[in-house]
Amino acid sequence: MFAPSVYAQRRAGLQQAGLNGLLLFVGNVDSPMNYHDNTLPFVQDSSFRYFFGLNEPGLAGVIDADSGEATLFGNDPDVADIVWTGPLPSLAERAAKAALERSRPYAELAQTVAEARAAGRPVRYLAPYRGETMIEMGRLLDTHPAQVKAGFCPELTRAVVALREIKGEEEIAEMEAALGVTHAMHIAAMQNAKPGVVEYQVVGIMEGIMRRHDWQLAYPSIFSKRGEVLHNHHHDHVLQQGDLVLNDTGCASGGGYASDITRTFPVGGKFSTRQRELYDIVLDMQLSAIDAIRPGVKYLDVHKLSARVMVEHMLRLGFFRGDAHEIVESGAYAIAFPHGLGHQIGMDVHDMEALGEDLVGYGDGTARSPLFGMGYLRLGKALKAGMVLTVEPGLYFIPALIDAWEKEGRHSQYIDFAKFREYADFGGIRIEDNVLVTADGSRVLGEPIPKTVDEVEAVMDV
Ligand code: GLY
Ligand code: MN
Ligand code: MN
Repeated sequence: MFAPSVYAQRRAGLQQAGLNGLLLFVGNVDSPMNYHDNTLPFVQDSSFRYFFGLNEPGLAGVIDADSGEATLFGNDPDVADIVWTGPLPSLAERAAKAALERSRPYAELAQTVAEARAAGRPVRYLAPYRGETMIEMGRLLDTHPAQVKAGFCPELTRAVVALREIKGEEEIAEMEAALGVTHAMHIAAMQNAKPGVVEYQVVGIMEGIMRRHDWQLAYPSIFSKRGEVLHNHHHDHVLQQGDLVLNDTGCASGGGYASDITRTFPVGGKFSTRQRELYDIVLDMQLSAIDAIRPGVKYLDVHKLSARVMVEHMLRLGFFRGDAHEIVESGAYAIAFPHGLGHQIGMDVHDMEALGEDLVGYGDGTARSPLFGMGYLRLGKALKAGMVLTVEPGLYFIPALIDAWEKEGRHSQYIDFAKFREYADFGGIRIEDNVLVTADGSRVLGEPIPKTVDEVEAVMDV
């Protein structure tokens, strides 16, 4: 946890939004793996943790937006708990860690909510995303759990997004700590991905490094020689000399901040001429995007810039024909780059996405594109200093997509399908870093992880 004053300042920041009524933050409970007491690793609700700090199940926080008073609801451990868990701090001691002077038994939460509602005061909350939370909020609000989500408060959501999307120094330090371990995981992956090794063996080595810090993954690792499958969570291929492996892996720090890094490298340690040619295109897409990042620039425009860099190179190689601008604006480019350039990152790997992707990533005059590919961009709006985002362009040969578009003649004036088919076995390349928007540009967070062809080949030469 950060110093108690950090949480007091965050709650004071929320108070500035000028909302009224009660602001209700229900923390997460444990999720059973297969029966109640056999649980998955606990992950706290990020907004609860942001304002109330505590990383334990069974808590809720209420801010009275009219008086500014904040209360933690939870239970003191009784002797039966202590038999199983050992000594635990009291609720008041836990509250003090987040500068909360008021704490009440959890059983009183329902009454607090009911009294506010009876007095005609609004009870404002963020959209829940877990079934258990919907059931609990349904109980508190006397509503069917399936109706709870629809009643979330957009004004509270916007206020929370405005705070959480600007990272403080202590948050940046925590993200760089996560990146330090992620750095070691990626180097280990490059050095252990030898011919004859099965993908899951490399995944086990990487995740072992993270577990030695007692940390968790920020998201399930994508580690595959079938990198064109964008969210490929299978790790059962045997690696062979010359395969190109895409490794999208990041851990969450103990303080609860995510990293999200992708590197692509050749098994055996040397890129072929064809691999190097396309790899350098993705690197140019990424470096051009990073170079364009600064406050006030719309990330949708940075996405388009990155796509344009790719198209210009691929026109030269004969994959596309026509005008680069038209190929981007028509969406034809997405045959090779069918996902977004990136997203915000912080406590969640796709930061705040549970609060509503469009509320977080769009607005302020920027609308989501209806086009296939560009429409998957999670962050389109203008950037602000203090935001942290991923920059993750990619270039893929997805046989099913190439076949489907060729069959329907989609964008056939721009795409040389025969040329794309020549690369049907190629796989995919993505390069992803986590980038802080600064007052006049950007800074790639963390110690640099080998990224150029020469750097990757050098680190694999062991
Ligand atoms: N790791 C998933 C993503 O890059 O968004
Ligand atoms: Mn990402
Ligand atoms: Mn990623």
